[in-house]
Amino acid sequence: MKAVLPFLLALCLALGVTGGKKFKVDPKKSKVYGPGLEPHKIVYPARYLFIEPHDTKGNRIQKSLGANSFKVQVEGQSSEGTYCRVWVQVLDRYDGTYVARYRTYQTCRDTIIHVLYNGQHVGDSPYKIQDPVYSEHCYCPEGDIEAWQVAVGCPADYPQVTRDLAPFPQVDFDSILNAAAKRFDAAGSRSFCNYVVKNNQMYRKCYGQHVGFNMFMDNILQSLLRKMLLPDIEFIINLGDWPLVDPKVKPLLPIFSWCGSEDTADIIMPTYDLTEATLEMMGRVTLDMLSVQSNNDIPWDVKKPKAFWRGRDSRRERLDLIDLARAHPHLFNASLTNFFFFKEEEEQYGPKEKHISFFNFFDYKYQISIDGTVAAYRLPYLLGGSSVVLKQDSPYYEFFYHELKPNVHYIPFKRDLSDLVEKIEWARANDDQVKIIAENGRKYAQENLMPRDVYCYHAALFKEWSKRLTSEVRVRPGMEHVPIEEHEKRFGSCRCHRLTRHDEL
Ligand SMILES: *[C@@H]1O[C@H](CO)[C@@H](O)[C@H](O)[C@H]1NC(C)=O
Repeated sequence: MKAVLPFLLALCLALGVTGGKKFKVDPKKSKVYGPGLEPHKIVYPARYLFIEPHDTKGNRIQKSLGANSFKVQVEGQSSEGTYCRVWVQVLDRYDGTYVARYRTYQTCRDTIIHVLYNGQHVGDSPYKIQDPVYSEHCYCPEGDIEAWQVAVGCPADYPQVTRDLAPFPQVDFDSILNAAAKRFDAAGSRSFCNYVVKNNQMYRKCYGQHVGFNMFMDNILQSLLRKMLLPDIEFIINLGDWPLVDPKVKPLLPIFSWCGSEDTADIIMPTYDLTEATLEMMGRVTLDMLSVQSNNDIPWDVKKPKAFWRGRDSRRERLDLIDLARAHPHLFNASLTNFFFFKEEEEQYGPKEKHISFFNFFDYKYQISIDGTVAAYRLPYLLGGSSVVLKQDSPYYEFFYHELKPNVHYIPFKRDLSDLVEKIEWARANDDQVKIIAENGRKYAQENLMPRDVYCYHAALFKEWSKRLTSEVRVRPGMEHVPIEEHEKRFGSCRCHRLTRHDEL
């Protein structure tokens, strides 16, 4: 069996190439688009753009043209007159489209982006950028939050933000903070921070024992402050995974959290996991919403028709899943990778399996998403991959779950797993339909869970929130000033023309 897979793969690749002969790529008719083409306006840690090859008749080509068919080069001058350092990657999404992404490490002037197919320019390449292109680590806010939202093309609002903020038309933060400190700090068991943004600087005071996770809030807030002038705001963020706000207890407290649940009333932000993957793209992390789309080239028909799962023992149903998998080995490949919560049952449910790369999950057609302590934060990546997601019914949600439709974007199964075997059997018997659900899920992720969306969601939330604060935002006694880091100094000065332009006028 082992020898068959590479053979099938080789065959598919060969067919792709043969298929490629039927159509001819027309570089001029091919499309290049995305925020990475406006690096002077849209600053992300890793900027990205899309390449969509079209044939001579103008039709989209829906097959991979091979890993090295497109070349993207980004060149420019640093302020010291040398070439600026830019790291570029081209990712094959195996559906005919490509993502190019690049990270800049210093300010680039006279930037030119070349997108080439067999040495020929694609779309309107070369793209010449007159204005300076700043790296993520420059403090160069571009006007106010609204101007930034327009420049980036953010959605005007998010239903989840509207819903979360509806109970808070007017907020007197002084009373909120007192109530929150009384309710959550007293026991010392909850960790949370009070953040203030004043004159585009950030300050915080944290409560509780485990406040290390404030680094996630620091990072995204710093990244936003470098790009835009935020209104003065003040908020409380819950540093734990569990949502905190009991809707029956008055006063209702506005608390920002990474995970929501149907019986709590927290205000939800994109998870720290997805946000860090955005901030550290092409840096500290390897799994992010772009890499997950391109690191498994196994076509649907070659994927194994089994349900795959790996994870730790953070919820009873995860152990139940192992029981099911053992009873139905032809339908599942599921193992626990770590024991902590149910350590005494390790003998029964172990041995723990060693870690495998997330990208290899997609060797299998069916991906199981099952809650951990709260929502499983891997759902964005599972959707963005090339398999179909089977998701456990759950009261927990992330910022985008309410937009997902069962049997359109994923296949639901009951919380107690009682219909999971039936759902997998149904999937095996309805392959065409299931393939469409897989594609819908992926498309949803491509359109709603990209770095752009992570930034836009935070911006929308902070903007809406600022409108509701009635008390004056001020730096409170005991707050720590968190300076905005400017790593650029290592590579030369930022010298923001956006800021100096105002001075010159
Ligand atoms: C389960 O999946 C892993 C990773 O793909 C693989 O190495 C292993 O052989 C599979 N187990 C079975 C019983 O198929």
